[in-house]
Amino acid sequence: MPLAWLPTPLMPLDRLGSMLGGPRLWLKRDDCTGLATGGNKTRKLEYLLADARRAGADTIVTFGAVQSNHARQTAAACAAGGFSCHLVLSRRVRWAHPAYEMAGNVLLDQLLGATLHLTNPRETAEAARTLIAQLKAHGHRPYVIPTGGSNALGALGYARCALELQQQAAASGFALTDVMHASSSAGTQAGLVAGFAGMAAGASSSPRVHGINVYEQNPEKLRDNVLSLAREILATRAPGVSIQAAEIHVDHRYFGEDYGIPTAETLDAIRLLARTEGVLLDPVYSGKGFSALIHRVRQGEFAGIDDLVFIHTGGTATLDVYDTAFATGA
Ligand SMILES: Cc1ncc(COP(=O)(O)O)c(C=O)c1O
Repeated sequence: MPLAWLPTPLMPLDRLGSMLGGPRLWLKRDDCTGLATGGNKTRKLEYLLADARRAGADTIVTFGAVQSNHARQTAAACAAGGFSCHLVLSRRVRWAHPAYEMAGNVLLDQLLGATLHLTNPRETAEAARTLIAQLKAHGHRPYVIPTGGSNALGALGYARCALELQQQAAASGFALTDVMHASSSAGTQAGLVAGFAGMAAGASSSPRVHGINVYEQNPEKLRDNVLSLAREILATRAPGVSIQAAEIHVDHRYFGEDYGIPTAETLDAIRLLARTEGVLLDPVYSGKGFSALIHRVRQGEFAGIDDLVFIHTGGTATLDVYDTAFATGA
């Protein structure tokens, strides 16, 4: 089911690049996928909602944190596709803001017609079970999408993005060697890794995918999730192509205190990209991820690399509920 406006642009960041030194920088604009302020989940939802339709579902149930971008894009996709939408939103982020449960993505979820179920983290699984049972009892046919849309089907959206990136890099006259993005529920990174590996199919080495961990206290968990999801995709789509653990690059240095809590470097990165290129990032995902790019380029970690691509996965709808973070030093 086509939901995303593809291909998203691959934009050179030449002003920022010349300021930082190092490789030429490129921004893959997946914040411009099109669904109600865009973002990376739209690519996954194309596959997932097509499957829901095939299964005869009329209602979608999915999960996330209160300010989930995945939930908001699911709400928009459901509106466009004629599905009812239930969002089970867990109060798992320790960010205190008076409008946290009203503004940002929560406001958009409501505008898009979704039904919201806010839960405490320990009650989320039980709340979901009860909701699904109630929907069925009332004659609905629910289809459940996991957190972040990150199963082997949803992640195919990023295997397709890997091909799109290869084509855009070739058209822009460079060889794709390094791609970076914020990583949390593993689907984006696993899809990219599987997509690149499937295309290379033993011929030459695949581009490195640098997942900047913004979600897991234990980065090994993210690494394992990416590896197993990528292997699951390849097992059905490109049997015979294998991936080793050493090919999964997860960087935990920029995680900070917790998921949903921006570091000082995150805020600096948001300001710097806004003021050099006129592009907005978000405080939870893309801004934290981009702080890694800035630091790593400044440290010379990409010396010898000509071109570095950062995937802007969206998220700016939450900027308003982080306005207090920017109150000092703006
Ligand atoms: C803005 C944004 N960037 C990055 C991610 C991470 O994507 P994934 O969950 O596929 O790792 C998310 C996931 O919620 C997101 O909302």
